[in-house]
Amino acid sequence: MLSFFLRTIVLLLFLSLNLFGTFASLTPNLCPLDQRYALIDLKTEFKIRKPDEFLDYDESWANSSSDCCNWEGVTCDTKSGKVIGLDLSCSSLHGRLEPNSSLFRLQHLKSLNLAYNNFTLSPIPDKFNKLIWLETFNLSESSLKGHVPIELLQLTNLVSLDLSSSSSASNSYFAPPPTLLLSIENPPLFLPLLARNLRNLRALDMSSVNISSEIPQEFSYMSSLRSLHLKNCYLIGEFPSSVFMIPNLQSIKLDHNPELRGELPVFSINNSMQVLSLLETSFSESSFSGRIPSSLGELSNLSSLVLFSNGFTGEVPSSIVNLKQLTIFSVGYNKLRGNFLSGLLNLTKLRGIDLGSNEFTGFFPTNIGQLSKLEAIFAGSNFFTGSVPASLFQITSLTHIYLEDNQFSDILGLENISMLPNLQYLFLHSKSFRISSPVDFNVFSSLKQLVGLALSGILLSTANITSVSDFSSQFRYVYLSGCNITEFPEFIRDQRNLDSLDLSNNNIKGQLPDWLWRLEELQVVKLSNNSLSGFDGSLKAVTGSQINVLDLSSNAFQGPLFIPSTSITYLFVSNNNFTGEVPQLICGLTSPTIIDLSNNNFHGYIPRCLGKSYMYSTCQEMLSRDTSHRLWRTSPRWNHWIYRKTSFLFQRQNCSAYEGNPGLYGPSLKDICGVIHAPTSLPVSEEEDEEEEGLSWIAAGIGFAPGIVFGLTIGYIVARLLIDLTPLSIDVLFH
Ligand SMILES: *[C@@H]1O[C@H](CO)[C@@H](O)[C@H](O)[C@H]1NC(C)=O
Ligand SMILES: *[C@@H]1O[C@H](CO)[C@@H](O)[C@H](O)[C@H]1NC(C)=O
Ligand SMILES: *[C@@H]1O[C@H](CO)[C@@H](O)[C@H](O)[C@H]1NC(C)=O
Ligand SMILES: *[C@@H]1O[C@H](CO)[C@@H](O)[C@H](O)[C@H]1NC(C)=O
Ligand SMILES: *[C@@H]1O[C@H](CO)[C@@H](O)[C@H](O)[C@H]1NC(C)=O
Ligand SMILES: *[C@@H]1O[C@H](CO)[C@@H](O)[C@H](O)[C@H]1NC(C)=O
Ligand SMILES: *[C@@H]1O[C@H](CO)[C@@H](O)[C@H](O)[C@H]1NC(C)=O
Ligand SMILES: *[C@@H]1O[C@H](CO)[C@@H](O)[C@H](O)[C@H]1NC(C)=O
Ligand SMILES: *[C@@H]1O[C@H](CO)[C@@H](O)[C@H](O)[C@H]1NC(C)=O
Ligand SMILES: *[C@@H]1O[C@H](CO)[C@@H](O)[C@H](O)[C@H]1NC(C)=O
Ligand SMILES: *[C@@H]1O[C@H](CO)[C@@H](O)[C@H](O)[C@H]1NC(C)=O
Ligand SMILES: *[C@@H]1O[C@H](CO)[C@@H](O)[C@H](O)[C@H]1NC(C)=O
Repeated sequence: MLSFFLRTIVLLLFLSLNLFGTFASLTPNLCPLDQRYALIDLKTEFKIRKPDEFLDYDESWANSSSDCCNWEGVTCDTKSGKVIGLDLSCSSLHGRLEPNSSLFRLQHLKSLNLAYNNFTLSPIPDKFNKLIWLETFNLSESSLKGHVPIELLQLTNLVSLDLSSSSSASNSYFAPPPTLLLSIENPPLFLPLLARNLRNLRALDMSSVNISSEIPQEFSYMSSLRSLHLKNCYLIGEFPSSVFMIPNLQSIKLDHNPELRGELPVFSINNSMQVLSLLETSFSESSFSGRIPSSLGELSNLSSLVLFSNGFTGEVPSSIVNLKQLTIFSVGYNKLRGNFLSGLLNLTKLRGIDLGSNEFTGFFPTNIGQLSKLEAIFAGSNFFTGSVPASLFQITSLTHIYLEDNQFSDILGLENISMLPNLQYLFLHSKSFRISSPVDFNVFSSLKQLVGLALSGILLSTANITSVSDFSSQFRYVYLSGCNITEFPEFIRDQRNLDSLDLSNNNIKGQLPDWLWRLEELQVVKLSNNSLSGFDGSLKAVTGSQINVLDLSSNAFQGPLFIPSTSITYLFVSNNNFTGEVPQLICGLTSPTIIDLSNNNFHGYIPRCLGKSYMYSTCQEMLSRDTSHRLWRTSPRWNHWIYRKTSFLFQRQNCSAYEGNPGLYGPSLKDICGVIHAPTSLPVSEEEDEEEEGLSWIAAGIGFAPGIVFGLTIGYIVARLLIDLTPLSIDVLFH
């Protein structure tokens, strides 16, 4: 009782002070006190500031006696002064969002945006159901964790609900996909209730909320929906095709739900769809023909069509050319056939085309240059023949050109490529080129934005290079295999961002420069089939090195093997003249490892750590992961494939990884090879056994001996690894 009186008095005091202030400045202080206190308390609960400022909170919030209606992000009702809108998105709020938060005292809120803050994995309080006037509600990317409370579905005035986050793709082929923060506890209850209660909803985004369920038929009753985004929700079952027919639906994104089946309906004209994105779903599996339905051509307002990685077959329906508003056309990673759809050239708004990894044939259109707004073209891994047309290199807006692994024999007008100021990725590698005179490597020196350059299979001339500092310093991917290069390219030296380097199948002689190991981002190094003879500089493993794949096979290396990094996963050194013992460092490698030491002059023990048990556990581990996890990258299916293939190879382990080293012996060879010719069996020293304790991940070798097939497969895998480390899909660019 007493405290109540006290509070009233304090309140009155404040009120009068406030009135005084108001009279003094002659500006009405709109904000009611209770609202202001709630905001002030909120300010102490979390620090409020703009991301690029180092103030503790926004300046307008600093003066707690000023009118809170003027505070940044606060909107008041013009009559009552009550706070009806609060936008604290990207305000670096940090701390738990508690059920007793002063936020819930702002009971008149119609609009609340808390996106892009860090609520440190606290659950979404069910108290939000007290904010019954909420119309727009945004908790996107705010580090909240746990079940989405079903009480939210009492907010029947909601027009927009955003609970999305973007799950970050893991950078390793062996890492399971990250777990999702938010999930739906009881989808069969939650989802139909959502559809029934939130009838006014125009925008729903629950991307990367773990739904793990079917989408019920009731979703098609949400007749107000304009946009429905359910990316990466682990959706299963058959998506109700009637949802596509919601009259005003403009944007639907169901990407990264690989087990979601469904059928696109027969669209009728006057459909308002603008964005249709089914990247990596299983929509083709439900449709009888597996074909892209021709009725997509009725979606005359469609600006973005993404059917990437779906298993669609047949030809692209010619009705696509009716989509005059199209800016993104992505059908990569399907099984599509036929010629380049020439009608696409009439769609002059196109900014991105992705036809990659299909079975397209025929010539590439010579007048592709008509698409003057094109920024990205992905057409790699098809069967296009003839020449890469010169007009391509006249589209100055281009940033990404991926035409690799086709059957082109020539590239016309490549010298004009220097006129593409924005070019970041140029992937042209192919075994099929028959270009008579070498390409002057200097034409690439004017492309200062280049990040990825793949010219494998094209003869290059470095004669005209005057200064290596002319080149871009942004390189991350440099693939120059089979380019007739004779010296280790100097321009690599300063590439601080370099991730993958392929210089295999050239004529590079001399010593491997030691600055290479100090490129901190470097993960993949392929130098096989050259004439390298040794390692320059100190032979100490570089701490911080991230090298993952190292292929030195078929060179002229002499002396001891140098392992530059403990993070190596694939180590190929066969067909050299390495001598001495197998380095003990092999037992210190941290990830699952495939090693080929064959055809060298190693002698001594094979380290015990390469024994069968490790191989086996790794194998089992990988196989079990293989069935229980999906890998999540730009092109998850490819990863999955590599994954499975690698596990398979692990199983087919054989002795050949050690073959051709007459001096090698040891009990572990017997472990690895079973009954096959283990030369001697000497006792293994205690130290070796101890060292073995810390390792649980080592597996040994793939050889080339039992059939060239293995060699080819592993080469192929490494090649795919190289490619897969690069951005592949338009999704990444334009979404
Ligand atoms: C705080 O706001 C009040 C009311 O607008 C004003 O009178 C006062 O001068 C402000 N104080 C500071 C330090 O700006
Ligand atoms: C809110 O709840 C938390 C945890 O239950 C508690 O630590 C905190 O003191 C409470 N805050 C207020 C203002 O009551
Ligand atoms: C959120 O804050 C926690 C604890 O301070 C921190 O560990 C985490 O990395 C932050 N999350 C993000 C997304 O910034
Ligand atoms: C939620 O807020 C973020 C950041 O302001 C914004 O990018 C996003 O579009 C909002 N979501 C909806 C559905 O409006
Ligand atoms: C999603 O939820 C299901 C069960 O509800 C769980 O088994 C699964 O591990 C979760 N997946 C992720 C990626 O969080
Ligand atoms: C399509 O829309 C136009 C103009 O809005 C209208 O005249 C026409 O009848 C509509 N056609 C159909 C089939 O609904
Ligand atoms: C297509 O877009 C135009 C321009 O934005 C708009 O006027 C028209 O109503 C849209 N058509 C449909 C069927 O939504
Ligand atoms: C494409 O445009 C050309 C002229 O620019 C025209 O002759 C041709 O009929 C158009 N093709 C389609 C499929 O619309
Ligand atoms: C290179 O560009 C110039 C200027 O745009 C043009 O005249 C020339 O024909 C182009 N070369 C080729 C081979 O297309
Ligand atoms: C070097 O550049 C000159 C002038 O641009 C050119 O004529 C010559 O063909 C180039 N040499 C090589 C080997 O590419
Ligand atoms: C490869 O380069 C060497 C030396 O630069 C040159 O003599 C040889 O002709 C080149 N090979 C081809 C196929 O161009
Ligand atoms: C390999 O190296 C050893 C020792 O350096 C040398 O004796 C031998 O001749 C070399 N073998 C070949 C094939 O080069």
